[in-house]
Amino acid sequence: MKKIDLRSDTVTVPTQEMREAMASAEVGDDVYGEDPTVNKLEEVTAEKVGKEAGLFVTSGTQGNLIALLAHCSKGDGAILGADCHIYNYEGGGIAAIAGVLPLLVDDTGGIMSKESVKKWCRPHNVHFAPARLLCLENTHNRQGGNAVSPSVFREVAEAAKAEGLSVHLDGARIFNAAVAWGVDVKEYTTAVDTVQLCLSKGLGAPVGSVLCGPKDFIEKARHWRKRLGGGMRQAGVIAACGLIAVEKMVDRLEEDHKNAALLAELLEEGGLHVEKPDKRTNMVYFVVKGEESKVEELTKRCAARGVLFNALSKGRFRLVTHLWVTEKDVREAAKIIIEEAAAC
Ligand SMILES: Cc1ncc(COP(=O)(O)O)c(C=O)c1O
Repeated sequence: MKKIDLRSDTVTVPTQEMREAMASAEVGDDVYGEDPTVNKLEEVTAEKVGKEAGLFVTSGTQGNLIALLAHCSKGDGAILGADCHIYNYEGGGIAAIAGVLPLLVDDTGGIMSKESVKKWCRPHNVHFAPARLLCLENTHNRQGGNAVSPSVFREVAEAAKAEGLSVHLDGARIFNAAVAWGVDVKEYTTAVDTVQLCLSKGLGAPVGSVLCGPKDFIEKARHWRKRLGGGMRQAGVIAACGLIAVEKMVDRLEEDHKNAALLAELLEEGGLHVEKPDKRTNMVYFVVKGEESKVEELTKRCAARGVLFNALSKGRFRLVTHLWVTEKDVREAAKIIIEEAAAC
């Protein structure tokens, strides 16, 4: 049975072109700065997002953690959306390793208000953890994959900078946001000091993220990467896929967005409650109410029929379209989900 895997865009396997690029990649020892393919990936990505320098890191989680470590000292505060990935899904690295205090704000809709950021920017007082950093996330995973508009995004980032904060963007899917709004990715990335973007999600590379920012910041980040055990050697083998990801895979994200829109439409027509983000990208969240034990079994029953997806919480499910999901797959998946949900 063919599997239609809608669990995440992280399940994408490398394309044939990527596999061939891996085989012929020019490599060297990247800890010595001698891997030409890694160096090129860092340069090309930094240039695309309008930053001075880039650093190839093992994952989005590592990119965000290094950003926290390089921007903050132990005991500093970072303002974070309560629904953001850094706070919810990165193993508590912010506390366990960075020693940074999360200063939480409401990010319903995908971004916090300027006012909520300002509230944490209090005058010096020995009782307070000083707020040093604002972390934004775009697209926002737990908020329906919503792409926050460039203007709202910039406004919040500028308000934080006016308070003296640095701003980091968890841009795991920032190219999805740019494609959804039809803007150059720099519309977002030049509003922040640093950004980590994932190569291993919708862009289809097997491994890695790039953290970008000012030269001196990236030098500091490189030191933190080494401390965390993230200094890799002939990493050009995987960076070769990353180069294809940033140079050739961005424009096709539009196709994933179209498939997600179709999926949302079909599920709605089938009577399901589908969440509506302001600007949908490649995710569809839906809610099923019914007999609790049957709702809990929904993912298993669909998996038995070849359709894989995750429950984000009780009765709330997420579907993610990507490179290896076609329009035909979307139609088939919608049919199976509607049938199984009706039995809840
Ligand atoms: C918004 C967001 N940030 C960061 C990450 C972490 O990326 P990684 O899985 O490469 O550590 C993810 C992963 O899904 C994500 O969705």
